[in-house]
Amino acid sequence: MKFFLDTANLDQIAQGAALGIIDGVTTNPSLMAKEGISGEANIQAHYVNICQLVPGDVSAEVLATDYEGMIAEGQVLAALHKNIVVKVPCTAEGIRAIKHFKDKGIRTNCTLIFTVGQAVLAAKAGASYVSPFVGRLDDISEDGVGLVAQIVETFQTYGYDATCEVLAASIRHTRHIIECLEVGADVATCPLASILGLLKHPLTDKGLDIFAADTKKLK
Ligand code: E4P
Repeated sequence: MKFFLDTANLDQIAQGAALGIIDGVTTNPSLMAKEGISGEANIQAHYVNICQLVPGDVSAEVLATDYEGMIAEGQVLAALHKNIVVKVPCTAEGIRAIKHFKDKGIRTNCTLIFTVGQAVLAAKAGASYVSPFVGRLDDISEDGVGLVAQIVETFQTYGYDATCEVLAASIRHTRHIIECLEVGADVATCPLASILGLLKHPLTDKGLDIFAADTKKLK
């Protein structure tokens, strides 16, 4: 499974990239706003900066919600860097835009996926990624990881797994990451804290303390 960072924060992206195990980044308008980025030119420059920090795909979301607006914005975003994947919402206009981008050779990530039906339409239109939102489904007492599992299985049954990656999004904690691994998600996009959380175990800390104490006896 690939690990993406779900942030627009350059320090966190640099910190994550330094680990050497980060495969890409996803952003969205809320994450960009959190960094205080505004205005077309600044947003575009920020995406270029992100692309320079990580070796893999960087999802850049269109702000427009109409077909023509998404097409115009997506073309500009895709031209910024070879690793930009245009992120498009799962609406009728978005599905049309994904088909257009597919025909033009521009890769897309279909976002705000909450059902298998949405994921299948996005994959059929030619999306490179579909993003089911695990945490937001859990927030309303539905089964986020269950949806990821259903999409993975459906894509395998109908052959979409060859063209479209299942990108588990809205990850809230380490258990989500492990469960998405278990059900075969292709990617999990996570806050840096959740990825670093995978490293934590009290017995690792305790073992290090014991080794440190015994190391002194060896000198
Ligand atoms: C996906 O690409 C989104 O950026 C995302 O994971 C949103 O998650 P949230 O529910 O934590 O806002």
